[in-house]
Amino acid sequence: MAGVEYLKEIEKARRDLRALISNKKCAPIMLRLAWHDAGTYDARTKTGGPNGSIRNEEEYKHAANNGLKIAVDLCEEVKIKHPKVTYADLYQLAGVVAVEVTGGPTIDFVPGRKDSNESPNEGRLPDAKQGPSHLRDVFYRMGLADKDIVALSGGHTLGKAHPERSGFDEKPWTKDPLKFDNSYFVELLKGDSEGLLKLPTDKALVDDPKFRKYVELYAKDEEDFFKDYAESHKKLSELGFTPPPSSSLKSKNVALLAQSVVGVAVAATVVVLSYFYECNRKF
Ligand code: HEM
Repeated sequence: MAGVEYLKEIEKARRDLRALISNKKCAPIMLRLAWHDAGTYDARTKTGGPNGSIRNEEEYKHAANNGLKIAVDLCEEVKIKHPKVTYADLYQLAGVVAVEVTGGPTIDFVPGRKDSNESPNEGRLPDAKQGPSHLRDVFYRMGLADKDIVALSGGHTLGKAHPERSGFDEKPWTKDPLKFDNSYFVELLKGDSEGLLKLPTDKALVDDPKFRKYVELYAKDEEDFFKDYAESHKKLSELGFTPPPSSSLKSKNVALLAQSVVGVAVAATVVVLSYFYECNRKF
């Protein structure tokens, strides 16, 4: 159970991450770090997932993680100040904060993830050169569905490719790569006309009719995108992690509310009973 002291440390780490990510303008790589730590999850064997293992040299050296050592090192600056916070929580918190400080939706964050020293074998993250069936293989393995695939791909509203990291041309997906909005989907539907980045896996989302349905919805309605993105991001950040019910601040508030309701009910009963007692005495 994440105790009150731990929750306080999480809130302090959240503030430090906000300052760090705004000052260094590193929201895109922080979001990519959170996604790559979580995206190795295998629901069948219950291995991989958001457990901080991307900090291990063995794992950040996987080809898909090229460049992410930069984000691991940036997070270390916060870890040194808040050593009790696990790497697993820290990386997921960094992803949540990256979305928020760039104007995206608020994502419910529940702490309590444990760190693992075991890294999964290379090859669990998606290969950008492939199509819809590969995307489904990878995300279904995590226990996620078509809607999650499209909503989460909207994370490419932030950042750009770096040739020395992934081999793709240095281009962003959107005109403002530091603003989290629905423009990734608007640009996808425009095709290649704007000279922006479109990986084969991005194009798969418009070519496959089941994916395209969501691309069209999100391009039309940013609120729908934000709502679904926040839900899917929370799922991704909690793969293989069962939040203890009392660890969430929200459930703590519900418990406090329930206590007050019981208190008011008891007080009301006392008032009513004393009224009847007084009435009985008089008559
Ligand atoms: C659907 C399968 C996905 C594939 C194949 C994919 C592939 C890639 C590739 C090749 C890059 C370029 C890396 C570089 O050269 O620096 C990249 C960057 C990025 N990806 Fe993805 N990605 C996928 C899904 C996601 C998801 C689900 C998220 C977040 C929710 C995400 C967030 C990002 C971000 C923010 C960047 C920019 C990083 C930066 O500017 O440093 N991606 N992705």
